[in-house]
Amino acid sequence: MEFSIKNGSPEKQRSACIVVGVFESRKLTLPAEILDKASDGYISSIVRRGDMEGKAGNTLLLQNVPGTLSERVLLVGLGKEKDFREKEFCNAIRTTVKALNDTGAFDASIFLTELAVKKRNIGWRIRQSVMVGLDAGYKFERFKSKKEDVRRPLRKLTLAVSRRTELSEAEEGLAQGLAIAEGMAMTKTLGNLPANICHPTYLAEQAQAMAKEFNLDCEILERADMEKLGMHSLLSVARGSHQPPKLIILTYKGTKASEKPIVLVGKGVTFDTGGISLKPGAEMDEMKYDMCGAASVLGTMQSVARMALPINLTVIVPATENMPGGAATRPGDIVTSMSGQTIEILNTDAEGRLILCDALTYAERFEPDTVIDVATLTGACVVALGHIATGLFSNKDSLARDLLDAGDEAHDRAWHMPLWDDYQDLLKSPFADMGNIGGRWGGSITAACFLSRFTKKFNWAHLDIAGTAWKSGADKGATGRPVPLLTHFLLQRAGKLN
Ligand code: BES
Ligand code: MN
Ligand code: ZN
Repeated sequence: MEFSIKNGSPEKQRSACIVVGVFESRKLTLPAEILDKASDGYISSIVRRGDMEGKAGNTLLLQNVPGTLSERVLLVGLGKEKDFREKEFCNAIRTTVKALNDTGAFDASIFLTELAVKKRNIGWRIRQSVMVGLDAGYKFERFKSKKEDVRRPLRKLTLAVSRRTELSEAEEGLAQGLAIAEGMAMTKTLGNLPANICHPTYLAEQAQAMAKEFNLDCEILERADMEKLGMHSLLSVARGSHQPPKLIILTYKGTKASEKPIVLVGKGVTFDTGGISLKPGAEMDEMKYDMCGAASVLGTMQSVARMALPINLTVIVPATENMPGGAATRPGDIVTSMSGQTIEILNTDAEGRLILCDALTYAERFEPDTVIDVATLTGACVVALGHIATGLFSNKDSLARDLLDAGDEAHDRAWHMPLWDDYQDLLKSPFADMGNIGGRWGGSITAACFLSRFTKKFNWAHLDIAGTAWKSGADKGATGRPVPLLTHFLLQRAGKLN
């Protein structure tokens, strides 16, 4: 799908479809009113008849509206005007793209982007429209012999701005929205790919391909390299698998070398059976999504490179399967992590933290300004926050604040969870420096506490995306989260958000 920005009047657009909004209690938005005048009250007469009451999610397609130059007009319900905020705006765009896909329209001019949204400027409205529009149009059909047939696919969307002075800010929002949406699409596809295709070697190849396309540095550490580094915690997870583990490092240099990099670390368990602490069978297929942290940091890297942000960014992906087998790690085994700290592995299904801890220690060598890890780490996080918010933990409150703000701005929200010392005791082991599990309660917190023992040397945040990285049920699929949050955080750091 192509996007462009335009300043102009709705009745003068030559397009297959003009999209305007109607609020509840039948109040026309300004562009709808302009069409109404041009058509001698045609729109308001339809609205008065009760065919479009303005309820959120409703749409009405009109053909050959008098006084206009376009084939169709799509009325989109927006709900109550006083309740119209960010979420309602995004939902209206999503509804629009879905409704347009059901028409024969090849292109459309959307005037919803002219609507005021509290606290959000034109850059936000355009960026968000592009992200939501492309997200709504995403399909994963690689393994379908027959692709879903769309009669005439929607190809071009023109987003309207009400003032010429807004054009340059809108164009910047458009470029950012496209870059973020592309990153999200990559993240979703990597997540959706089955584990027989998307294994650690595949992830490494994808990273190398991206490095080539965007001129990044890419280094892949093999099992032998990791052995030399003493990454026995990471390697203990890979023991049961026939797929070799990989440690992927991608480096983007967008500013002077003296500026310390931001490091993103993504959990890349390409399939999590639980290992010897085997998971129950129900829904185990969804554990192909256990590399969504990795997918999201790779997607974020792609967006950042596409936007050419003036920052230095390093991405680290520890990639492995977690499988049972004759060589697999047993409950009770003790390993020495790269940091030198010893770990008693009481449950082989708590493997995410075991690979992340060595990747986090490895991050020290980049002398990072900030390290953020992203992981589908705990079922307990889903119990705590459901599928709405990502769990956020940090050893620095101002970093947590910045990430929360980025999540709000991107409408990809996180919630700040505690990381108090009081929880650390739960990780005690009689035989090693720590166990890898903290017992039944507060599971997402004890997992974060485990990681915090490997991040003392830098500002660090941990995003537990177990509840937000993918959807189950009828619309099963990766969501692309938290790419919007991360890219907005980095846009902010780069001084590119206004
Ligand atoms: N990948 C899982 C976490 C997970 C489970 C994410 C379900 C999304 C949905 C992780 O490796 C895991 O198995 N965690 C265990 C930890 C426990 C053994 C302490 C869990 O959450 O049950
Ligand atoms: Mn697990
Ligand atoms: Zn896992």
